[in-house]
Amino acid sequence: VAQQPQGPVLKVALVGGGTVGSQVARLLRENADELAARSGARLELAGVAVRDAGKTRVGLPLDLLTTDAVALASSGADIVVELMGGVEVAHEVVVAALRTGSSVVTANKALIAQHGAELHALAREHGVDLYYEAAVAGAIPLLQPLTSSLAGDRITRVLGIVNGTTNYILTRMGEEGAAFDEVLADAQALGYAEADPTADVGGHDAAAKAAIVAGLAFHTAVTAADVHVEGITSISVDDVAAAGDMGFVVKLLAIAEEVPGGICVRVHPTMVPRTHPLASVREAFNAVFVTAEAAGEVMFYGRGAGGTPTASAVLGDVVTVARHRVSGVVGPTLSTHAERPVLPIGEAITAYYVNLHVDDRPGVLAMVASLFAEHSVSIAGVRQEGSGDEATLIVRTHRARDADLQATIADLRESPVVRAVAGLMRVEGAD
Ligand code: NAP
Ligand code: HSE
Repeated sequence: VAQQPQGPVLKVALVGGGTVGSQVARLLRENADELAARSGARLELAGVAVRDAGKTRVGLPLDLLTTDAVALASSGADIVVELMGGVEVAHEVVVAALRTGSSVVTANKALIAQHGAELHALAREHGVDLYYEAAVAGAIPLLQPLTSSLAGDRITRVLGIVNGTTNYILTRMGEEGAAFDEVLADAQALGYAEADPTADVGGHDAAAKAAIVAGLAFHTAVTAADVHVEGITSISVDDVAAAGDMGFVVKLLAIAEEVPGGICVRVHPTMVPRTHPLASVREAFNAVFVTAEAAGEVMFYGRGAGGTPTASAVLGDVVTVARHRVSGVVGPTLSTHAERPVLPIGEAITAYYVNLHVDDRPGVLAMVASLFAEHSVSIAGVRQEGSGDEATLIVRTHRARDADLQATIADLRESPVVRAVAGLMRVEGAD
């Protein structure tokens, strides 16, 4: 930028100066002239709220630190950037900011997945903006494309990897045979994990993101409580290796899709063929496929976690909101006009890999196959490994109602020829 742009000054209050907040503060400072040129206003940091004022910090302006997050959020800044995480205090902070007439930018998916509708209503009431691109898939522009670029289309499915921590853990378990605890510690050290990493490994972080994405894609109010969640804590190195032996990788997928009678939103470990594009999404990268009637399939890929990539998405929202404040407008609010029923996992249409320890004698395969048939689940392939006491049947199904597959599994567990249902995982992308 050749010249210092002149113009109005917008005050930015930063609530949270940790992994993401410290990078937002740095980029606001280092790119001040360019951000001013793009926004039409200089963005001036008015304060930074942290929990512990005594901590040694690099890159944050110490004279602007406060430990009173709600007071900073109520101080009349033009834009409050909430990067503290958690739900209760963050909710108080964002409500205070909106009621004061400040626009809000947040990366807090847990907050939006739980209180999004209320916060959007408050923003509308006070004539201010509420943006949260960074809440889903880190640096990847996804929410803006869903709400703007694809607003003229009809989305039928959103499927992808939206949690960097678990993708990092599964990548290293698969490629190095690394132990879960060791790689989780590395993901924490790299700044990918939530303050409480059980939100990542338990699938709840991905579920919050899935709720947000589903709401925007299907113009329906969806909260985290509507999402079926299974995390990766029960996945072992052996499970990942066994999937690898069959030509698959294990990914934690978030899937929001149309099903007969409504939509279904789910997060669970999934086997994906090694040849599928999602299989090559490694470490903390995220990737999301959106299927829309007119557009067909659109893929988004990029860094899903980490301070600097996430700060990019936060600053994109800050510039958008700043432009609106300069022009005296606000962006579009939440659209929930479709009110699609959000159905339970039983209505999802899925395929499975089932690993059965069975008796090795004539007629067993036919009995097993008949249980699948009784529940209208079609078998795509069967392989036997071992013999005698070691006999294992590996069954791959075609796509069927999840409830029918679960009923089949319940019957298999009761069957006199099945000694154990030793493995069970949903499959995507193998059709
Ligand atoms: P973090 O490193 O734990 O930082 C949180 C910051 O908030 C810290 O500066 C902390 O103060 C401050 N804070 C917490 N509670 C506070 C309170 N009651 N009053 C005042 N300040 C308080 O978290 P983060 O990784 O930056 O994540 C922040 C948000 O971004 C979360 O909502 C997270 O889900 C979201 N996000 C993170 C990533 C990522 O890759 N890290 C990506 C996308 C979205 P201290 O410094 O004193 O502890
Ligand atoms: N903990 C989150 C993740 C941060 O690992 O994806 C990005 O939202």
